[in-house]
Amino acid sequence: MTEQVSEQVSEHGAGEHELAAMRRALEIAERGPLTGGNPRVGCVLLDDDGRTVAEGWHHGAGTPHAEVDALAKAGDARGLTAVVTLEPCNHWGRTGPCSEALIAAGVRRVVYGVSDPGAHSAGGAERLRAAGVEVVGGVLAPEIEEFLVCWLASERRGRPWVTVKWAATLDGRAAAEDGSSQWITGAAARQRVHEERAANDAILVGTGTVLADDPSLTARGDGGELLAHQPIPVVVGERALPADAALRRHPAGVIETGSRDLGRILADLNARGLRRVYVEGGPTLVSAIVEGGFADAYSVYLAPALLGGDRLAIGDLGIPSMAGIRRLRLDGVEQLGDDIHLTARDGRSV
Ligand SMILES: NC(=O)c1ccc[n+]([C@@H]2O[C@H](COP(=O)([O-])OP(=O)(O)OC[C@H]3O[C@@H](n4cnc5c(N)ncnc54)[C@H](OP(=O)(O)O)[C@@H]3O)[C@@H](O)[C@H]2O)c1
Repeated sequence: MTEQVSEQVSEHGAGEHELAAMRRALEIAERGPLTGGNPRVGCVLLDDDGRTVAEGWHHGAGTPHAEVDALAKAGDARGLTAVVTLEPCNHWGRTGPCSEALIAAGVRRVVYGVSDPGAHSAGGAERLRAAGVEVVGGVLAPEIEEFLVCWLASERRGRPWVTVKWAATLDGRAAAEDGSSQWITGAAARQRVHEERAANDAILVGTGTVLADDPSLTARGDGGELLAHQPIPVVVGERALPADAALRRHPAGVIETGSRDLGRILADLNARGLRRVYVEGGPTLVSAIVEGGFADAYSVYLAPALLGGDRLAIGDLGIPSMAGIRRLRLDGVEQLGDDIHLTARDGRSV
């Protein structure tokens, strides 16, 4: 009897070696790009003794999927077990279906983490079973769900994962009486905003902010240089973008929606493969996003300063009494220079 057959079954019918391989697959999945339309996936191929034969991960849209990457490195994969973080896909995109590649390579068993919710790509497990491959799913699923939360949410809901950001004084003001808001926070906090921009596919901004601040919304390093990934700015609102707006010179271009219909705008961005959206305000747009139930995560920068007045970071949310208070789940608190950076999550499951 082989070691794999006799080893202890630890989770959802996966053996100890397979569980360890799934942790490794999740680790290497992180090497893939955070942004872009595709999920970050890792795959480890094991032999019958639970030894790793090859590892693969998805390097980004248009490149081989994790399973195909691992199969290419393994050479002969007959009789192996594929441990993969996401259910192998079952569709022809820019590359062929991974379920077919695994079957063609003669893989004996497939252990996967979370099911593929994709309307076109799901069904890989079924296809593998139909071809006589042993299939086990759900291994390390909570960790992988969390790792892929943006992508899974975007697939399941047909709209991007939305992070709302604002900078405010301790008294919750996002601008002074004259509308100026540059800068409430210090250099370290503003640098973190640039990093957050670069970790998203698109930046949403209202026409009010474009007209007041003429922001460039590029993602820059601390020397002012452009970072490798530039999310595309999306202007929300009915007014036109001025001909000389800095956004017209953005290296990724600019999307002018001419609309306030957030549901439609977000669905359209999702359809373009823009799955992670960063909202940079101002207060009118932020309030509409939150009130509409579109905010998944919050990134709030608080400066130890006061402005007073009525230029609040967030406006009316239609909450008449404490019974309607929106409680968030605190994710992290960090001091950046003299400022505080708070991250929080909406409690809903996706
Ligand atoms: N501290 C911060 O983090 C921060 C960040 C950004 C801005 N600001 C400050 O905020 C101020 C601008 O505030 P703001 O509230 O006017 O900016 P805004 O939210 O960027 O723009 C408001 C405009 O967006 C349009 N809009 C888009 N979607 C909408 C919706 N669903 N519902 C209603 N209107 C929608 C409307 O214009 P249309 O008529 O074109 O439709 C509206 O007048 C400036 O002083 C700026 O400096 C501060």
